[in-house]
Amino acid sequence: MNLPFAESWKIKMVEPIKRSTRQEREQWLKEAHYNVFQLRAEQVFIDLLTDSGTGAMSDRQWSELMLGDESYAGATSFFKFKNAVKNILGFDYVIPTHQGRAAENVLFSYLVKEGNVIPGNAHFDTTKGHIESRHATAIDVTVDEAKDTQLEVPFKGNVSVEKLERVLRENQGNVPFMVLTVTNNTVGGQPVSMQNIKETCELCHKYGVPVVMDSARFAENAYFIKTREAGYASKSIKEIALEMFSHVDAATMSAKKDAIVNMGGFIATNNADWYEGCKLFCIPFEGYVTYGGLNGRDVNAMAQGLDENTEFDMLETRIHQVQYLASLLDEYKIPYQRPAGGHAIFVDAKQVLTAVPKEEFPAQTLTCELYLEAGIRGCEIGYMLADRDPVTRENRFDGLDLLRLAIPRRVYTDNHMRVIAAALKNVYDRRNEITRGVAIEWEAPLMRHFTVKLRRLQ
Ligand code: F0G
Repeated sequence: MNLPFAESWKIKMVEPIKRSTRQEREQWLKEAHYNVFQLRAEQVFIDLLTDSGTGAMSDRQWSELMLGDESYAGATSFFKFKNAVKNILGFDYVIPTHQGRAAENVLFSYLVKEGNVIPGNAHFDTTKGHIESRHATAIDVTVDEAKDTQLEVPFKGNVSVEKLERVLRENQGNVPFMVLTVTNNTVGGQPVSMQNIKETCELCHKYGVPVVMDSARFAENAYFIKTREAGYASKSIKEIALEMFSHVDAATMSAKKDAIVNMGGFIATNNADWYEGCKLFCIPFEGYVTYGGLNGRDVNAMAQGLDENTEFDMLETRIHQVQYLASLLDEYKIPYQRPAGGHAIFVDAKQVLTAVPKEEFPAQTLTCELYLEAGIRGCEIGYMLADRDPVTRENRFDGLDLLRLAIPRRVYTDNHMRVIAAALKNVYDRRNEITRGVAIEWEAPLMRHFTVKLRRLQ
């Protein structure tokens, strides 16, 4: 008999979570203005809001906390971290920052000027926010296949080189860099192939445009290259990661994802000018360049996390769990962005709540329904997050409208996956009764989804 798959870790510490009644959840969600960001964590049973900063650190990472060097400058923690970045990403210069968006802020403060155009494969919302707030334009050049959730292709996060070339040709001299996001979070945690990374970088370099890799989930991307792309099966994750980064000019990283820390990020590059330029913005925004807004102990945990989460077993356990959840949804015929992404399942809300008009935000409505059903907090990655066009101020309804179920690393068991799938099935079974969505009562001018206040339409 073949032995079944099992996790490559065991549990040493647990954290209790509480169930609630539907009546309680009705009240709490109303108080939260139908925005799950406004709920208290203790009102949530299974929290799938994000996989960012919510992972469980290993015993080795916790040990590293004790070894943290809190010296203001030149801490040993920094050099341990710099060494890990050199070994795993291949970059000589690194600036720690307090998280991924801080890395974007520092690098973009140096590189982005008003009127610039920055192409990318679906910029993450903070990335786009940092571009648009500098009065520059982010242009999405993801392959069209990503828009069809039912299409099963191995590298749905890829860049369309045709679209990219058009942007580069039409904006010569006005593109400071291109952002290559691995995995492509916005379209469903979908990977980018090594071939596409190579072609994208060659094209950009032909036009004299550097490439910045948004590498929040680079290790998961490397796992997909190993398991899906010809020629990589026998390479280690670390070898694949090094090859990925060898093509690009710099990386920004939210270490809260694939380095499995609760807080942290960095910028890494081999470009000495960029390093010098970034230092000028790091010091006033983040702090001195060897700690960048982090405790020495956190820098240590980040170095350890980078090392252990670029091991195959760790990634296999993680992605296997996401794929297990996907297999349950397949059984219940619930449509999601296929194939399952690296860090999350993205349920296609437009195909579930077919009666809810787009103006009433189907994915936001589905997010509320899942919370009411079982206290499971997902996250809308759809029309609410897409925000308004900065010029016309119209809602952007041209993309996907998804409910993201992001799975924290090493936190929940497969029993939790079964609860999630069953709760979603219950909502799916009564989908035809859900005909009205939500309306906006108040919204912020930028990144509205965090704070938006909504009204439930009956
Ligand atoms: N880039 C990508 C691809 C991301 O997914 C995120 C964050 C960031 C940059 C910004 O990093 O949060 O450390 O400042 N994504 C989280 C998410 C918030 O839920 O997907 P950060």
